[in-house]
Amino acid sequence: MVEKILADALGPDDTQLAAEEKQRLLSRLLARLAHEIRNPLSSLAIHVQLLEEDMAQAAPPLKAQAVGRFEIIRSELHRLENLVRQFLSLAAPSSVDLQTIEVAEIAGYVCELLRPEAAARGIEIMLAVPAGLPPLTADPAQLKQALINLVINAIQAIERNGRIDVDVRADPAAAFFLRVSDNGPGVSGEKRSAIFEPFFTTKSEGSGLGLWIVQQIATAHGGVVTVEDRASGGAAFTLQLPLRGPQPHG
Ligand SMILES: Nc1ncnc2c1ncn2[C@@H]1O[C@H](COP(=O)(O)OP(=O)(O)OP(=O)(O)O)[C@@H](O)[C@H]1O
Ligand SMILES: [Mg+2]
Repeated sequence: MVEKILADALGPDDTQLAAEEKQRLLSRLLARLAHEIRNPLSSLAIHVQLLEEDMAQAAPPLKAQAVGRFEIIRSELHRLENLVRQFLSLAAPSSVDLQTIEVAEIAGYVCELLRPEAAARGIEIMLAVPAGLPPLTADPAQLKQALINLVINAIQAIERNGRIDVDVRADPAAAFFLRVSDNGPGVSGEKRSAIFEPFFTTKSEGSGLGLWIVQQIATAHGGVVTVEDRASGGAAFTLQLPLRGPQPHG
C-alpha cells in the first residue's frame, strides 16, 4: 500500500507546483509513518530480547531451534529499523536550507565518520580534494546525508578488503562533482535503471531508499546523480551540483 502511495506521489508532474505539493505530501507521509512504526518497533525489540533470555533456560533441543528463529527475527527488526531511519532522514529536511559551504569539509567529515567501519572490513577510504575549490551553495545536512548513503553503499558493495575513492572537483561550467567510486562488483546494466527507485534493494536488511534519497537531494539542489561502471571494475556514483545552488525557475 505504501508503495502505491509513493508511486502515485512520485508519478509524472505536470507543473512545478504539483511537484512541490507532492514532495510536501510525501514528506509528511514518511514522517508520520516513521513515527507510528518506531514505538511498536522498539517495544518489539525489547520483548524479543527478553524472550531470548527466557529461552536460554529452555531444554537444549528447543533452545537450538530458537537460535535460528531469533536470528531471523533480529534481522527483520534491523531491516525495519533501517527503513524507519531512512524515512526520518528523508522526511525531516522538507526544504533545502541553503548555505555557502566548503565541500572539502563535508567530504572530510563523512570520510572520518565512516573510516572506522570501513577499516574493520579491510576497506580504505581515500579522499582527494584539489586546492582552491570554490565554495558551494547547498544544504550541508542534506549533502552530508547524500554522501553518507553513497559511501555506505560502497562499503556494503565491497564487503571485505578494497578501496573507496571520494573525489571532489569543480569545473568552469559552474558545477561541482562529488564522486564516490569503489572496487566492488559494480552495477550491471539491468540493475542500473532500478537502483534509484524507492524500495529497490538486493540486501536482506536494506530499505532500498538510500539512493532514492540521494536522488531527491540532488534534484532539490538542481543537480543530478549518475552511476557508471569503472573500467577497472566497481561502481562510480557522481553527484553533480550547480555551484550557486538551485536556480529559480522561469
Ligand atoms: N556501490 C554499489 N555497488 C554495487 N551495487 C550498488 C552500489 N550502491 C548501490 N547498489 C545497488 O543498489 C541497490 C539500492 O541501493 P540503496 O542505497 O537505494 O538501497 P540499499 O543500500 O539496498 O538499502 P539502504 O540504503 O536502505 O540500506 C542496492 O541494494 C545494491 O544492489
Ligand atoms: Mg544504501
